[in-house]
Parts: sequence; C-alpha cells; structure tokens
Amino acid sequence: MKNYNITVIEGDGIGPEIVKEAIKAIEAAAAKEGFGLTYDYQLMGGAAYEASGEPLPASTLASAKAADGVLFGAIGGPQWDNLPREKRPESGLLALRKGLDAFANLRPTKVYDALVDASTLKPEVVKGVDLLVVRELTGGIYFGEPKGRDETRGFNTMVYSVEEIERIARVAFEAAMKRRKKLCSIDKANVLDVSQLWRETVDRIAPEYPEVEVSHMYVDNAAMQLVRNPRQFDVMLTGNLFGDILSDEASMISGSIGLLPSSSGGAKGGIFEPIHGSAPDIAGQGIANPLATILSGAMLLRYALGEAKAADRIEAAVETALAQGYRTTDLADFGAKEVCSTQEMGELIANLIAKA
Ligand SMILES: NC(=O)c1ccc[n+]([C@@H]2O[C@H](COP(=O)([O-])OP(=O)(O)OC[C@H]3O[C@@H](n4cnc5c(N)ncnc54)[C@H](O)[C@@H]3O)[C@@H](O)[C@H]2O)c1
Repeated sequence: MKNYNITVIEGDGIGPEIVKEAIKAIEAAAAKEGFGLTYDYQLMGGAAYEASGEPLPASTLASAKAADGVLFGAIGGPQWDNLPREKRPESGLLALRKGLDAFANLRPTKVYDALVDASTLKPEVVKGVDLLVVRELTGGIYFGEPKGRDETRGFNTMVYSVEEIERIARVAFEAAMKRRKKLCSIDKANVLDVSQLWRETVDRIAPEYPEVEVSHMYVDNAAMQLVRNPRQFDVMLTGNLFGDILSDEASMISGSIGLLPSSSGGAKGGIFEPIHGSAPDIAGQGIANPLATILSGAMLLRYALGEAKAADRIEAAVETALAQGYRTTDLADFGAKEVCSTQEMGELIANLIAKA
C-alpha cells in the first residue's frame, strides 16, 4: 500500500483542536482510496518556545523538509506577544516557510450554496464562486533591492527574474490543470517594466499547457472584477504585492474566515494551513470551526500527494454537511439546522466520507 509521511504541527490556541479533526477526515479519505499516512508530530510557535526556547526547533524543520507535506493548525497568543521578535511564534512560521523555500502561496475561495448569505456581496454575485489565487511569495517588491528611506524619501524595488516568474507560473498552470483549466495572470504591464517581463514569460510558458485558456488582466481591473463578477475566475496568478491584496479581497467574498484553507510550498510538499490564526479567545472551548483545516487537509492530498480523489471526498463531505445545515458557532446565524462542536463537526465529516 502506498504510504506518505506527513509532518503535523498543531501549534497554539485552537490549533490542536482543529488539526485533530482534520486528521480524522484525511484518514477517512485515505481508507477509501487505499493509501496510508504516517504522522510525525512536531512543535512550532509558542508551544515550541515553551518546550525548547525556540519557535522553530531544528527537529521541526528537518521533519518538514523530509515530509511529503506539512499539516499545520495555527500559532500565536498574547502570552508571547512581548518576546523579542526572533523568539515570537510567527518567527517560527516565517523561518519554516523560508526553510522550505515556499515561493508559492495558494489561496482558494469557494462560496458554498448553503452559505451564500454569509457574504457581504449579493447572493447572485457570489453564488458558485470557486477560484484560486496563486501568489508568488518570496520575491517582488517586499524583498527587492535597493530599498531604503531617509527623512524625505523612501523606496522599494519590484524585481522579478525570468526564473522566478517561470516557477510560479508553472505552479499556477499545474493547478489550473487540476481545476477548470482557466488561468488569468494579473499584472500592471501598461505601467511597469517588471510586469511586461511577467506577461511575456507567462505567454512563453503557456504552450506547455495547451489545454489551459490563458488571459491577462491589469491588477486594478482585477480588484474591480473580483467584486463585480468573481465567477469569471478560476486560477489567478499574481506577484507578491498584487497577490497579497487580491487574495485578501477574494477571501472575503465567501464571508467566513473559518472555512478558508491555504498552502505555501516550493517545488515539493508545502505547508497546508487555515488562513485564520490561533483564535486564543475561543481556544479550549470546543467551538472552533475545523472546516478550514479539514479543507487544508484536502489541499495537502490534492497538491502535495497528488491524491485528487481523496481530496474530492473531503471537499464533497464538507459541502454535504453545510447543505444539511450543520454549523459550528461562528456560522450559526447562516441557515443552521444544528449547531455542533468542533469535535462533532470533525466526526460528522469523517462519517460522511466513510459512508459516501
Ligand atoms: N498562520 C497563523 O498561524 C496565524 C495567522 C494569523 C494570526 N495568527 C496569530 O493568531 C493570534 C490571534 O490573532 P487574531 O485574533 O488577529 O486572528 P484569528 O484569526 O486568530 O481570530 C480572529 C477572529 O476570528 C475567530 N476565529 C478564527 N478562526 C476561527 C475558527 N476556526 N472558528 C471560529 N472562529 C474563528 C476568532 O475567535 C477571532 O474572534 C495572534 O497571536 C496572531 O499573531 C496566526
């Protein structure tokens, strides 16, 4: 039987509660598809600092580098807010992303029919939205040199090499091949030289993926189109700055932070995590929504392990649970027939997968 090695980082706050439920869903899907997983539990963030004095112990990084993928909950909490920056929980996550050369950030936004009213946009605009932002994460204006400031002037440099554009473009094309085979590359090629190189490079890669329909859009128009007609998008390919802004805009279309998964990865594997934080205000109460982490588990299966059918099973079970009116407390106001705990939601999803 095929077996995969997964590094599991529960983290802080609600992290352990939500990761536990995601593992149940992954196990149920793996049992159906006939493969196995071995889990290596590692510490990161506040929990790691308490145990070892470091937010990213060497053993965690080594495990993550060797693994087929990393399932991660969330880190952070007020008790660590006053530590020096290099000891703070989020430094651990940044160091992990760097250690894995995680240059590709994938952020899907899906609007479930059952939760169409949770969005601040009109139901007829958001119904059926299912898009994926593929954002370059380690280059562009956040890292470009020269940069600096004095009393009267500040400057940063948006720079991309052909190699950086090619590798993120390939991630986006591969993702499009696993979805509806449409890719919209976002740039500002009417003004920026770096965007012209971006556009040319994407066009040069495109013939390698003849099934994918490619289009280009200026970032200002993309910001507008996301609220005007978000259904037009399948995969949106962006640089670091544009993706930072557009992925946050896109995530709000669904209206619920507790439902959105993400990944940041390199050539292999990656870190799969909910977009929300460690929610210390509700930790330990059994009311956290585990669905973003469960869906992150589905992304791990699809993108890191290539187990698309298992991923489909998890995503279908989430859709069914929501359609049947099961909600955790955060979504209780949106069509709840039954409000369930974190654990009850996790067990429900695992049971739906097992019975499907
Ligand atoms: N990737 C990460 O690990 C990550 C990301 C963002 C924030 N953080 C950290 O998390 C801590 C808390 O940050 P914050 O409060 O700004 O953001 P947060 O996302 O943790 O919480 C924001 C609000 O959303 C709610 N919420 C979040 N996830 C939920 C879920 N699954 N179910 C139900 N409700 C949920 C919380 O209860 C809170 O009211 C901080 O220490 C921050 O640094 C970590």
